[in-house]
Amino acid sequence: MRNARPSSGAREVVVREDSLCRVSYLSVDYRSEDGEVHALSSVSLEIRRKEILALVGESGCGKSTLALSIIGLLPAQNSRILSGQILFEGKDLLSLSGKQMQKIRGTGIAMIFQEPLSALHPVLKIREQLGEAISIRRSRQGGHSLDQVFSYKPRASEFRGPLKRLVNLPSRRRYPKEVEDEMIASLKLVRIPDPERILNQYPFELSGGMRQRVAIAMALSENPGLLIADEPTTALDVTTQAQVLRLMKELAEKGETSLLIITHDLGVAAQVADRIVVMYAGEVVEEATIQELFSRPLHPYTKALLACLPKGSKKDGPLGSIPGSIPDLRKSFEWCPFVERCQYAMERCGREHPALEGDERHSVSCFLYS
Ligand SMILES: Nc1ncnc2c1ncn2[C@@H]1O[C@H](COP(=O)(O)OP(=O)(O)OP(=O)(O)O)[C@@H](O)[C@H]1O
Ligand SMILES: [Mg+2]
Repeated sequence: MRNARPSSGAREVVVREDSLCRVSYLSVDYRSEDGEVHALSSVSLEIRRKEILALVGESGCGKSTLALSIIGLLPAQNSRILSGQILFEGKDLLSLSGKQMQKIRGTGIAMIFQEPLSALHPVLKIREQLGEAISIRRSRQGGHSLDQVFSYKPRASEFRGPLKRLVNLPSRRRYPKEVEDEMIASLKLVRIPDPERILNQYPFELSGGMRQRVAIAMALSENPGLLIADEPTTALDVTTQAQVLRLMKELAEKGETSLLIITHDLGVAAQVADRIVVMYAGEVVEEATIQELFSRPLHPYTKALLACLPKGSKKDGPLGSIPGSIPDLRKSFEWCPFVERCQYAMERCGREHPALEGDERHSVSCFLYS
């Protein structure tokens, strides 16, 4: 039994007034051939309205698992939520049915996936996918209803087989001019050259970077309350990356969208985020405002991450490497999970698990401060 995983309801959950999404004591396991992987261990964090929160940490520390938990897309076949709560606009997401959760995904939470292909339907043209995203948002805002938007009526000859129907349907749907114009504008925003041509293409006809940009355009078009962006800019060139980040920041500042941005790149976090959460081995180890974290990092892991940045440009580089590797997540940590790599480790760190403690501006889970 891992003492890092309190039973749900064991602690009081304090929700701030400006809270958009509150994750409390979330623990998630995956079943694998080698045993249970404890991907998240009692993770708590809050995404506030009008803010950009960055989630950073080394590969395999549970960032995508947290994102998939919030949007309700953990793989059903081998994942298990052991405990915890996710509140979004006051709704308890983990208690919703699949259909209710689908509705939230269409209107409240959108995600740009780490692998852009998984966000795009393989046999639908970009026009259909982007048109759908824009139409859903417009119908939500009292514009056109979906029925009006899809004025397409299939002919009898198109019902010969499911594959033929799927292939035929896309090119025959018609969107109102405003939707067509918005499709072009949103592709231009993410600097897709020749957007008219791209609209008529299938995802497999695009390069990885182009697919990533289409996925970003789609997510932004939905204008969600919460946009989760899992490594959204890694496939982009530096100029486009800066533009996409600026665009996301503008959206958040307009007060329409809060952003959870998952990144390996502390430079990206420093560029756009208001606050930052550092994860290690399935746990949150430090949480602070950007200014605090860069000027006064507390956790030895965060300090090591910062020390790995190229000298002279602390805020402009990807994470370097820290000696050693993250521990095997099949293990149960009844001690600090960073102990084996920590240059400040004390005897206590190897036998007790530190709790995340601090205040609004800065909290850390480390015995150096308790
Ligand atoms: N579908 C899955 N089945 C089994 N194990 C999984 C699955 N997805 C993730 N894991 C494991 O869960 C742990 C956390 O993975 P996760 O993908 O959340 O990490 P991450 O921080 O997003 O990493 P990266 O930065 O490489 O994307 C890892 O040990 C990973 O191997
Ligand atoms: Mg990931």
